[in-house]
Amino acid sequence: MNSEIRKEIYQVAMNWVKEAGENIRNKMDSPYDVDTKSNPNDLVTTLDKETESFFVQKIKETYPNHSIIGEEGYGDRLTSMNGTIWIIDPIDGTMNFVHQKRNFAISIGIYHDGIGEIGIIYDVMANNFYHAIRNEGAFKNDKQLPLLNQDVDIREGIIGMNHFWLCDNRFVQKETMQQFVRKVRGTRTYGSAALEFAFLAEGIIDGYLSMRLSPWDIAAGIVIVNEVDGVTTDIDGNPLNMLKKNSILTCNSCLHKEIIDSIKKGRK
Ligand code: IPD
Ligand code: CA
Ligand code: CA
Repeated sequence: MNSEIRKEIYQVAMNWVKEAGENIRNKMDSPYDVDTKSNPNDLVTTLDKETESFFVQKIKETYPNHSIIGEEGYGDRLTSMNGTIWIIDPIDGTMNFVHQKRNFAISIGIYHDGIGEIGIIYDVMANNFYHAIRNEGAFKNDKQLPLLNQDVDIREGIIGMNHFWLCDNRFVQKETMQQFVRKVRGTRTYGSAALEFAFLAEGIIDGYLSMRLSPWDIAAGIVIVNEVDGVTTDIDGNPLNMLKKNSILTCNSCLHKEIIDSIKKGRK
């Protein structure tokens, strides 16, 4: 994608994200519907749907040749990453949105022929924008984020992960995950994968892992983390397929092999 076009799309996307965030803040204290999706803890609200359909309408009007992958199903059904694709999570951290009214984000990754070109993660209540254009650095609001310190000892590392993976044997033996938790300095669960990527890019955590995330949870985060020299793969170290769910490890690249090795022995 040529850099002029990319800049223009980035600016347009930033403005839409600002507008969508303002709309969420204005409406979140009025009644809205909360439904469940794949299980009783998988929540979706009227505002998730309204926000995604706002983006889809804007994109279809402005860039009719672009495609969309969106969590709430207003986008397209795609079988390839060819062309320009917007990958949208209208509210990442819906459980936080409903229960806590904070710690949720709008996440948009824009990919061209499979390459992540633009990433925007907006922490709506903190009013923090994490954003990046490929090869142009990552930013928190107006401030460029420094490259990650490549000299972190895993015993001094803080890792983002959901406690759920300590109680679930399907992907990695629980005992292995428990040993991993004891090995690192601390773990954190923020309840928004997008924010965990943003916090890694900011350098306030050193890694984040999950056994199963969808493309919209990670698309923007990958672009932002790449710009601070972080690395994102599945938990076996393989490249990701952006059309499917993947296990995810995003981290400071100096910890990548060590985290994979720590988990490998309990891998199912
Ligand atoms: C969820 C959040 C959560 C992660 C879940 C995601 P949603 O996204 O990112 O942190 O653990 O796997 O599904 O449903 O709130 O958009
Ligand atoms: Ca999500
Ligand atoms: Ca969501």
